[in-house]
Amino acid sequence: MSEFHITRTLPEDAMAAALRADVQKGLTSDPKTLPPKWFYDARGSELFEQITELPEYYPTRAEREILAGRAAEIADALPARTLVELGSGSSEKTRHLIDALRRLHTYVPVDVSDTALEQAGRALVAERPGLNVHALIADFTAGLALPPSPGPRLLAFLGGTIGNLLPGERAEFLASVRALLSPGDALLLGTDLVKAEDVLVRAYDDAAGVTAAFNKNVLNVVNRELGADFDPDAFDHVALWDPANEWIEMRLRSRAEQTVKVPALDLAVHFAAGEELRTEVSAKFRKDRVSAELAAAGLELARWWTDGEERFALSLSVVV
Ligand code: SAH
Ligand code: TRP
Repeated sequence: MSEFHITRTLPEDAMAAALRADVQKGLTSDPKTLPPKWFYDARGSELFEQITELPEYYPTRAEREILAGRAAEIADALPARTLVELGSGSSEKTRHLIDALRRLHTYVPVDVSDTALEQAGRALVAERPGLNVHALIADFTAGLALPPSPGPRLLAFLGGTIGNLLPGERAEFLASVRALLSPGDALLLGTDLVKAEDVLVRAYDDAAGVTAAFNKNVLNVVNRELGADFDPDAFDHVALWDPANEWIEMRLRSRAEQTVKVPALDLAVHFAAGEELRTEVSAKFRKDRVSAELAAAGLELARWWTDGEERFALSLSVVV
C-alpha cells in the first residue's frame, strides 16, 4: 500500500519571521526588491499553474517534451529508489519520471507551498499504488534535511526554477545540493536556454495578463501577512530582458507617487511615480555556463538533452 506523509520542516512562525525580514530588507533597499519565494501562496500556486498553460509560456511544454521522450534514458542512467524534487509544485511533468523509474520506492516532493504539496501528493498516491510520498514543506535555500529512504537518489530540480536564484545564491544552492548527494546519486536539472528576446519577453508578459496577476500577487501576500495596504492596481507589471546578465527581470512599476504602510514592520514605504520594485529574475542559460556552475559545486555534467526546438535543457549530473 502506498503512504502519504507531509512534514513541515519550516515552522509557520519561522516562515512568518523570514517573510518579515525579507520584506523589511527589500522595501528599504535601493532599488526596492521582494524575493520570489513569497509568490507561492495558494492563489500564487494556482496562478502559476495557469501560466504553464499559456500559449506564450513555452518552458513547461518544452520540458515536458524532453521528460516524455527521455524518461526511460534517465531511468537507465540512474535507476533511482528515491526521487527528491525541489520546488515540485503540481508534480505534473514529474509523472513521466515516476512511471519510468521501475524501482522507485519513495518520492519526496519539496515545496514552500503547502497547498500545492497536499494536492499533488494526494493525487499521486491515489494514482500510483505502492509509491510512498513523503512531502516536505521546506525552503530549499535554507538547509534541507531529507527523510531516510533507500538510495540511489535522483534529485530533480525542474521548471527552470534555478534561474530564479541570483548567481551567488545559485552557487550556494548547488553546493548544498551536492552535500545532500552521495556517490551514485545524481541531479536532474531543468534550465531554460537563451533565445530571441521577443520570445522570452512574451513568456513573461502574456496577452491575457496572467503573469501580471501572478507578479502582483506578492503584494496581496504582504497585505495579508503583514497588514500592508498595497493597491495592486496602482502598479504595472514589467518584464524585460537584461542582455548583460542574460536574465528576464520582473518588476512592479508604481503608476503614481504613493506611500504604502506596512504596520507589522512599522514601516511607511514611499514610491516615486514610475519607481520600480524588482520581484524576480529568471536567468536563461547556455550549456557552458550550466556545466561550469555544476563543476564549481563538485558536480559533473554527464548528459544533456534539449527539446526539438532547443528552447529548454535537462541535464543529468553525477557526484565527483
Ligand atoms: N516544478 C514545477 C513548479 C515550478 S514553479 C514546474 O516545473 O512546473 C516554482 C516552484 O518552486 C513553486 O511551486 C514554488 O512554490 C516553489 N518554490 C519557490 N521558491 C522556493 C523555495 N525557496 N523553497 C521551496 N520551494 C520553493
Ligand atoms: N520558474 C519560473 C520561470 O522562471 C517561474 C515563473 C514563471 C515566474 N513566470 C513567472 C516568476 C512570472 C515570476 C513571474 O519561468
